Amino acid sequence: MPDVHVVVLAAGQGTRIKSARPKVLHRVAGRPMIAHVLAAARALQPRSITVVVGHRADVVKSALSESAGLIYVVQEPQLGTGHALLTTEAVLKDSTGTVILLSGDVPLLRPKTLKELLDCHHSTGAAATVLTAVVDAPHGYGRIVRSGERIARIVEERDATPEERKIREINSGIYAFALDGLFDAVRAIASENAQHEYYLPDLVAIFRQAGRRVETMTVANPDEIRGINSRAELAEVSRIVRQEKNNELMAAGVTIEDPATTYVDDSVTIAADTILHPGVSLEGRTTIGAGCEIHSGARIVDSRIGDHVTILNHCVITSSTIANNASIGPFAHLRPESDVRDHAKVGNFVELKRTVLGSRSKANHLTYLGDATIGQNVNVGAGTITCNYDGVTKSQTVIEDGAFIGSDTQLVAPVTVKQGAYVGSGTTVREDVPAGALAVSAGKQRNIEQWVELKKKSRGKS
Ligand code: UD1
Ligand code: CA
Repeated sequence: MPDVHVVVLAAGQGTRIKSARPKVLHRVAGRPMIAHVLAAARALQPRSITVVVGHRADVVKSALSESAGLIYVVQEPQLGTGHALLTTEAVLKDSTGTVILLSGDVPLLRPKTLKELLDCHHSTGAAATVLTAVVDAPHGYGRIVRSGERIARIVEERDATPEERKIREINSGIYAFALDGLFDAVRAIASENAQHEYYLPDLVAIFRQAGRRVETMTVANPDEIRGINSRAELAEVSRIVRQEKNNELMAAGVTIEDPATTYVDDSVTIAADTILHPGVSLEGRTTIGAGCEIHSGARIVDSRIGDHVTILNHCVITSSTIANNASIGPFAHLRPESDVRDHAKVGNFVELKRTVLGSRSKANHLTYLGDATIGQNVNVGAGTITCNYDGVTKSQTVIEDGAFIGSDTQLVAPVTVKQGAYVGSGTTVREDVPAGALAVSAGKQRNIEQWVELKKKSRGKS
């Protein structure tokens, strides 16, 4: 098997997407589109992966900083896809074997298809193999012009005659090239075309004229080679990815009531018999157990959810853990490092941050719990607030097992409510509460008899 080198083109500005952000960094299913391309490239286990950057090169490089082992070449100025490949000559000139050329804006390509392209290329010994697709709407793509059975050249939309524009076989922008003689051929590309650019697809005609073999391989599913040039195409491609993920989940036993409005990132896992209602977003490294029910409007990011958990409507949950049989929401906000243990309940308008809510404990209404460790079987009454921040430092609140916190309590941290203690409603807890004690801080209630009547009389006088 000859060596395989991958080149990914990502230097273009992407004018049509009209963005300050480089096009290849726009996200598809939660990841920059180029990250999808690189994942497919890695599946080939190539000897090298070279990324051609140019427009906002530093931004692209730093976005890919976690992607190890990439070689970058800078194409400046960006004179077209042929010119882009030429900039990799310094990296590849002493290599032999095959170059797989990928576009940073074609994110749906499957590793399986790339392997087939490679096999096809090697089996024919061609100088170039072009991955093509037959589509109903070829607009915007380069067209494959054949003479007889064989590919003769590729013509870009803008340079095509009305007759050529009717061709429905398109160039995916993905190719396999033999490295032998490749750069000499690339140097022969001219820029006499509508965009005055050096078009990589012109290699086809150049190789043919030189009597070298050019092959094509046509993908079975044209969706795979969709390129993203505009926001509308970004949305379409995202929808395809989403649909595929949803289909996979449903095949694995997850109920998705309305796949069209359910947004699950590729990286998310969900066990069987979980039900997703419409309008749910599950993002990043989220895992969800079996038999859960996630209601509309929930957004869950980088979180671990156990089995039989209920998430009611409109909860936002980030970097948190929720154990089996817990119930959250509606309208709860779990900020990073919230740790809700089994059978615990977080009710409406409750916010948690860096807080453990122990087994079978409840915070049902209108509460803020931050930097707190709450034991088991604790009842946190409505309107309880941990005053965790004094303007300078964050301090801890500890509520031990079985404690009962009355409504409208403020816990001024650092403070501990010991095991089984009670805190009366409306208490401002500034000192630790001993085990089994009752803490109250409000003064004795005073009733002013007939106040209402007296008030009315005094109003009448004025
Ligand atoms: C390209 C092909 C077209 C094909 C289509 C498939 C050319 C001339 N045309 O058109 O035949 O049907 O892809 O999606 O190649 N880039 C650089 N440097 C440059 C120009 C572009 O690195 O100087 C990169 C872009 O960042 C992008 C890729 O090359 O990732 C393709 O460029 P783009 O301008 O999107 O080409 P298309 O017009 O889509
Ligand atoms: Ca493109």
